[in-house]
Amino acid sequence: MLRRLYHEQPASFEFTPANLAWAEGQIAKYPEGRQQSAVIPLLWRAQEQEGWLTKPAIEYVGDMLGMPYIRVLEVATFYFMFQLQPVGTVAHIQVCGTTTCMICGSGDIISVCKEKIAPTPHTLSADGKFSWEEVECLGACANAPMAQIGKDYYEDLSAENFSKLLDDMAAGNVPVPGSQIGRYSSEPAGGPVVLAEHKGTGAQYNGSVQRAVDIGDTLKRIDGTEVPLLTPWISKGAGHGNTPKPAPTPKSAVQQAAAKKAEPKPAANKSASKSGVTKQEADAKSKGKPASKAEPAMGEIAEKKPRTMKAPRKAGADDLKMLKGVGPKLEQTLNELGFWHFDQVAKWTPEEVAWVDARLKFKGRIERDGWIEQAKILAEGGETEFSKRAKY
Ligand code: FES
Repeated sequence: MLRRLYHEQPASFEFTPANLAWAEGQIAKYPEGRQQSAVIPLLWRAQEQEGWLTKPAIEYVGDMLGMPYIRVLEVATFYFMFQLQPVGTVAHIQVCGTTTCMICGSGDIISVCKEKIAPTPHTLSADGKFSWEEVECLGACANAPMAQIGKDYYEDLSAENFSKLLDDMAAGNVPVPGSQIGRYSSEPAGGPVVLAEHKGTGAQYNGSVQRAVDIGDTLKRIDGTEVPLLTPWISKGAGHGNTPKPAPTPKSAVQQAAAKKAEPKPAANKSASKSGVTKQEADAKSKGKPASKAEPAMGEIAEKKPRTMKAPRKAGADDLKMLKGVGPKLEQTLNELGFWHFDQVAKWTPEEVAWVDARLKFKGRIERDGWIEQAKILAEGGETEFSKRAKY
């Protein structure tokens, strides 16, 4: 199936502040240099926010992760879960058409989609509220036919109950997901013959339906404010009540570098204890002497503006995209700030890095991707692993 970007695209994309904090939390899960592994969660959150994946969103994620746009596009076009065209403002219906659902009547459900939404998949209804597509098995075969609508499953569908579901949603309601014929779970349609204990528990819904009803976001776009941010590795001990606390922004790479510097480390050829403290430092401590001059605490590096240039030198600007982590947008930002050449970047001091970092959209990029080390090599006419690959 041909998967291309939609012919009409919005002008821009930005994560909401809450989603941005969440995205930074995802990036922080991966080890140094492996942040690009966060591409799928970030694309997914962008889709959850907008309903579909736009070109600006793909580029935004690329900029955020320092990935060439083509690499992000490859991911977005490879996985069918990413919608590359606008979807209904109320819901995008994904009807399972695989064997069990097909045998149990998914054809009828698709006919309703064609009649009530649009004759062809991935087409908006006349009022723009709905769109639909046929998908492969969604793993709820015992309750076939079924469809994923919004974030939840609607099972045991028939042309009648499905048609009513659509009317309900169009009227602004969110019908209860799960079985539409009253099955508690996936017990036989005639009633449970084993594991029938739930009958006595008084539970109205099974676990997943209850969760969907509790969260209540089946058809909602996710802007990050509805549910607590799930980045516990960032905000240890932060409450997960109804009012989400934004996860603290990960420390910038400059701050991380300062922290790293401040960590105890063995002097050359000197061994350190398991805690990383050298004998000299331990001795100094026991004698009440400071082991070394205190390093700046995180976030305490003062900014200093580096020397900038109004225009590139006569020979032309360097291709700053040869620096791993610099895409077209970041290159443009750097040019606007007055940086055109590798040797400019190579000379930045930590204070100057802090100045530039504060003016980039995605902080921490310089240290994280090692721009200065790369720039030094490139300024001398050398090649980095990345620049070799980037040329092709
Ligand atoms: S065949 Fe439809 S959910 Fe498996």
